Amino acid sequence: MKSKVSNLRPALHLHNAELPDFVSLRVDQYYRERVQNTWDGGHIMRGRTPGADALQLCSNDYLSLARHPEILAAMAESIRRDGNGLLMSGIFLHGACPQIDLEQRLAQFMQAESGVLCQSGYAANTGLIQAIANERTPVYADMMAHMSLWEGIKSAGAKAITVFHNDPEHLERQVLRHGPGIVVVDSIYSTTGSIAPLREIVDICEAQGCVLVADESHSLGTYGPNGEGLVVELGLAERVHFRTASLAKAFAGRAGYISCSKRFTEYFKSESNPAIFSSTLLPHDVRGLDATLNIVRQEGWRRQRLHANARYLRTQLDALGYNLNDSQSQIVSLESGTEQQTIVLREALESRGIFGSIFCAPATPKSRSLMRFSVNAALTDAELDRIVSVCRDIRDEVDLASWPSTRRKLRGKGNQAVVVKVGMEAQSRHAVAA
Ligand SMILES: Cc1ncc(COP(=O)(O)O)c(C=O)c1O
Repeated sequence: MKSKVSNLRPALHLHNAELPDFVSLRVDQYYRERVQNTWDGGHIMRGRTPGADALQLCSNDYLSLARHPEILAAMAESIRRDGNGLLMSGIFLHGACPQIDLEQRLAQFMQAESGVLCQSGYAANTGLIQAIANERTPVYADMMAHMSLWEGIKSAGAKAITVFHNDPEHLERQVLRHGPGIVVVDSIYSTTGSIAPLREIVDICEAQGCVLVADESHSLGTYGPNGEGLVVELGLAERVHFRTASLAKAFAGRAGYISCSKRFTEYFKSESNPAIFSSTLLPHDVRGLDATLNIVRQEGWRRQRLHANARYLRTQLDALGYNLNDSQSQIVSLESGTEQQTIVLREALESRGIFGSIFCAPATPKSRSLMRFSVNAALTDAELDRIVSVCRDIRDEVDLASWPSTRRKLRGKGNQAVVVKVGMEAQSRHAVAA
């Protein structure tokens, strides 16, 4: 049946209030520079509509849980029983309730003393940094750290100090220069799938008296003996002050989480703006995540399959000449370079039924846009071979040999050039202290 909503057309006689120049010039600039000049009137993200046999590699549902019958049954039962709950800020929750129970279950799972559920990974990161930093706090951020961490630094009014990607020596030099502060990293970086050298970073934080925040959005559920995350896998649970995570990836729900001490939990709920001024999760989100936690722990075969799939794809694409920029995880990206080159890559892949996610500015520097493949546990051998075969066939069509990332690979420099380039652009984007 055709949806009524899709029949709605903008009413021609209705006009929005006109925007003054200081806003409308920005909007005009977007349409002129991005839509017309760069995307030739189209949109870099909007290519073909996936057909029935399309392979979707844009979902972060790494363990393929989004349609797990036990999780869906738990959520459906909760909707029928609890409706949409009380619709209020989490600050009003207390006593025995499923949300607080789940906070404690997740903490136990991650080998932490306590933790807080947030509305999203974005709210967890912005809320946490806002609650622990102020104008006098240096915050050392890996230049590829997730935007929500940078946003937290801004909202705290703190001093952002950029650190070259995965470069502990640079981190140490910066801390020695600017003093103890907060170090923020992603355990696995969402753009290229590179993994943070957490052991070295923890050692530096301890030696220099810094607080460490590790964003485990892409490693919770996927790393650790039972999915506890990379920090647990490396035996660092008692040495990392805060772990944050989006539960919209391997946990396939809509929420975020922060692991911390019991004393901090209470402070956070009363002092962090997103925790106070934004409504909390709905009962069926909580119930679904509770069921998901059981599945993540029990169904270890999903992690094994995920890692085997990711390893296979990385090995094959590397052998075909693609520079995977140090990916060691289930995130595998083809760095095509300019946005125009990325549109050519998108069309070459989509016309053969392969759909990934395009990353471009502001998620990457302008000249470093890319197509990200998120590998999942449900991909079959035949599907993996289909991806590899398409990537083999399109090499001339997308002019792989001319990509700057390919030339770096041939020079044996891997990801090295990224460091300088991303650093410079990150500095212009994020008002960085020298
Ligand atoms: C590393 C990282 N942190 C945080 C987030 C934000 O998570 P959410 O989508 O739950 O707001 C994302 C998702 O884009 C992410 O990749």
